[in-house]
Amino acid sequence: MPETQANPTPARKRILSGIQPTGTPTLGNYLGALRNWALLQDSYDCLYMVADLHALTVREEPAALRRHTRELAALLLAVGINPNEHVLFVQSHVPAHTELSWILACNTQFGELSRMTQFKDKSAKHPDNVNAGLFTYPVLMAADILIYNADLVPVGQDQTQHLEIARDIAGRFNGVYGPTFTLPEGYVPKAGAKIMSLGEPTKKMSKSDPNVNSFILMTDDKDTIVRKFKRAVTDSDGVVRFDAAEKPGVSNLMTIYAAFTGRSMQEIETEFAGRGYGDFKLAVAETTADALAPVQAEYARLLGDKAYVDGVLKDGAARAARLAGRTVRKVYRKVGLLQLEG
Ligand code: TYM
Repeated sequence: MPETQANPTPARKRILSGIQPTGTPTLGNYLGALRNWALLQDSYDCLYMVADLHALTVREEPAALRRHTRELAALLLAVGINPNEHVLFVQSHVPAHTELSWILACNTQFGELSRMTQFKDKSAKHPDNVNAGLFTYPVLMAADILIYNADLVPVGQDQTQHLEIARDIAGRFNGVYGPTFTLPEGYVPKAGAKIMSLGEPTKKMSKSDPNVNSFILMTDDKDTIVRKFKRAVTDSDGVVRFDAAEKPGVSNLMTIYAAFTGRSMQEIETEFAGRGYGDFKLAVAETTADALAPVQAEYARLLGDKAYVDGVLKDGAARAARLAGRTVRKVYRKVGLLQLEG
């Protein structure tokens, strides 16, 4: 009698996302991406990656890069990434990413890379080091995603253009060589897709901002968080009301508060009606500090257990490499690279 399975569980969809180890992540990284990475684990098979190769596009002291890579892995575990059910790894530990990147580069146009706003922004920021890696950065990112045939990529708004080019590259490759890659979808949160600088609320919050008061780091203690929010640039009208164009500072703080409390903008406006910015800023600061406290405690514990973190990364690299290697072999065959038997 043929074996039958009454209720075969359909394969879960797959997630891939990454973050660069260029220093301690900010509240923007957390609300835009990392928090969702943890939440989505219940419904997807997830691969999460420390994108150390991407970090090389900006010059960094080698010892600092190594330290940041391990620390970021510990922070991802502290945020709740479960390495037993999912895969946590470092990009450079899976060489197949760079192998696929070359093939994809040969299927990407100079013109489409020239249109990337992040390339333009970063070239303007580092005029002395406009390197080719900065230019081909989105190709490596496409390789990261396509090599696992990821269905979903949780990112903040600033990465959506890179995701779009990954889809374009995948579609073009499939058109020329036959169905090979899954076209990935972005997953951008409703509240928190773009957290703005506390100092200049028309700019994205970024850890590379020279003004340290413009960002909240995920490791900032409560006093620092309160101090930074108190200094946050608002306006002189004194009313807590959401209006991203006219009141970018207040609207950004409302977005942060909404992301943590789940309240709507209208509910927040009602909650703080007739109260000054001082009260409001304190509430945002306390909510943020309370939400980050358990992550910080777990992070501190994990920093003391280097062997555990390294073990997770070793296991993650082996599991990721198995999946990635399969894709690269298939792609090499499709494009006509000679493969020898045995
Ligand atoms: P990175 O390291 O700049 O940022 C990591 C994640 O944080 C999000 N993010 C924000 N979200 C909201 N508000 C902000 N102010 C804010 N700042 C950062 C980013 O959108 C991102 O989701 N290229 C990627 C890393 C990467 C990657 C990948 C991502 C490499 N390969 C493959 C997805 C899939 C980057 O530089 O992210």
